[in-house]
Amino acid sequence: MDRENSAPLPLRSSRPTTSPGEASRATTTLAADPAAIAKCFPDRRPPPAVITIFGAGGDLTKRLVVPALYNLVRGGMLPDSFAIIGIDHNEMTTQAWCQSLTEMMQGFVRADGRGGAIDEQAWSWLTGRMHYMQGDFTQAETYRRLEKLLSEQFGRQGGAANALFYLAVADRFFGPVIEQLGAAGLMRQSGNAWRRVIIEKPFGHDFASAAALNAQILKVLTEDQIYRIDHFLGKETVQNILVLRFANGIFEPLWNRDHVDHVQITAAETVGVEHRGRFYETTGALRDMVPNHLFQLLAMIAMEPPVSFDADAVRAKKTELFRAVHPISPENAVRGQYGAGVLLGKKVGDYRHEPNVSPNSGTETYVALKLGIDNWRWAGVPFYLRTGKRLSARTTEIAVHFRQAPYALFRDTPVDRLPANILMLRIQPDEGLSLSFSAKRPGAKIEIAGVEMDFAYRDYFAPLASVGYETLIYDCLIGDATLFQRADTVEAAWCAIQGLLDAWARAPADDFPNYAAGSAGPAAADRLLTRDGHAWLPIRAEHRHPEQST
Ligand code: BG6
Repeated sequence: MDRENSAPLPLRSSRPTTSPGEASRATTTLAADPAAIAKCFPDRRPPPAVITIFGAGGDLTKRLVVPALYNLVRGGMLPDSFAIIGIDHNEMTTQAWCQSLTEMMQGFVRADGRGGAIDEQAWSWLTGRMHYMQGDFTQAETYRRLEKLLSEQFGRQGGAANALFYLAVADRFFGPVIEQLGAAGLMRQSGNAWRRVIIEKPFGHDFASAAALNAQILKVLTEDQIYRIDHFLGKETVQNILVLRFANGIFEPLWNRDHVDHVQITAAETVGVEHRGRFYETTGALRDMVPNHLFQLLAMIAMEPPVSFDADAVRAKKTELFRAVHPISPENAVRGQYGAGVLLGKKVGDYRHEPNVSPNSGTETYVALKLGIDNWRWAGVPFYLRTGKRLSARTTEIAVHFRQAPYALFRDTPVDRLPANILMLRIQPDEGLSLSFSAKRPGAKIEIAGVEMDFAYRDYFAPLASVGYETLIYDCLIGDATLFQRADTVEAAWCAIQGLLDAWARAPADDFPNYAAGSAGPAAADRLLTRDGHAWLPIRAEHRHPEQST
């Protein structure tokens, strides 16, 4: 096989769709061949631009945004005329800001364990373009100073006045910052000036707040200026789902209720809430993971084929899918909270003893749902979703279970059951894909063994230096919103879970904690499937051949 030519297609439209007019999650990877990075992006540099990062001293900027920019520099994917303005509340010089970022990068490279060093040339290219500005995000005066700084930079860029504002700030600042940007005239676009904002998660905490935030920011911006991030869409393996489905002839004909029995989507984490207790107490697993990350996986696996990879074509199909999700009743949902337990050989405490968590907390750290999708393709096919903290292993995967073959032929053989075929999409950390099927065990008797065909990314493609934000930032700079959330998509996702949010708020759980750290989650989540004659696949970090798992 020609491995070079089998590289995944970049999942972005070939033309921009716009014309002028808590971040501890990522595994930071920095050391890789710049040529390998460059190969993953189309041969197209963004135009001159200035990126302004609100929240320059925060975790997200340090761990994800700046490392992603560094990887883009190494891949030659940023324009020469490029500048970065960092804004935050703290008094600090540009030099001190760069110094703190340099220390952080050195820490990442050390932690990478491959003995590499920072690419000094790329790093000084980047730091040489950085400017720090102290400012209160809520004060008009900050934006007047920002305008001045931006004008200076635009002057250096020969008059091009493209500006990207990255809101790496707490969600309560999203609305105020955008209003201030609007009031200062900084969002006005013209022939040689596009103006865009990147907004981080969480976008609202329920349907009403998301709709209100959309209404607030849409007074200042047009939809094509808004890039709402869901970092799951920055994952190569998530982007690959559409290629798997639509660039291969064999899957799509089977991708419907005639052939698919049910689908399991799992996002299991071993981490607890760490230092995020205050945020998590008012959020919980349902809000934190479901209408955003798990729904993105659901959309990729279940949406109708878009007519093109154009941003609006793709996002319209996602929105349609979310609108087809049945209201989720509490009978089809399970919530859990971790108690103390043993995780990866170490004793860990319960959620209620985490910092900034109430000793009587009713916040769920686990959720399992059974979803129905009311359309011709999926009617009657259950989609089971589960996510939780402090589970036995870290893994994100989608398992498509196909219908069983009729048994009649095997009635008179020792075969007592026919295992179903499962197409397993391993999103992380053991990225790949496998298809399980039945084979005859060699011998005189008819005996069936479960076997599988496996594709692991690492066997085909060089590891890519990525923190998962490179594609997202790059796409925003070239004006491709395919991998970003549109207002109606976000609202449709919140709408799908709103009934459950309300029901759970009305009836707090009375059995917390109900799963031990290091387990697979609450027993009730197992019952959610057994009552349909199904069972969750085991939660495992490493992919194992079916024969090894017995
Ligand atoms: C974040 C959630 O959006 O995603 C976290 O707030 C969660 O609670 C994280 O841990 C999971 O992301 P990833 O990329 O580590 O799977």
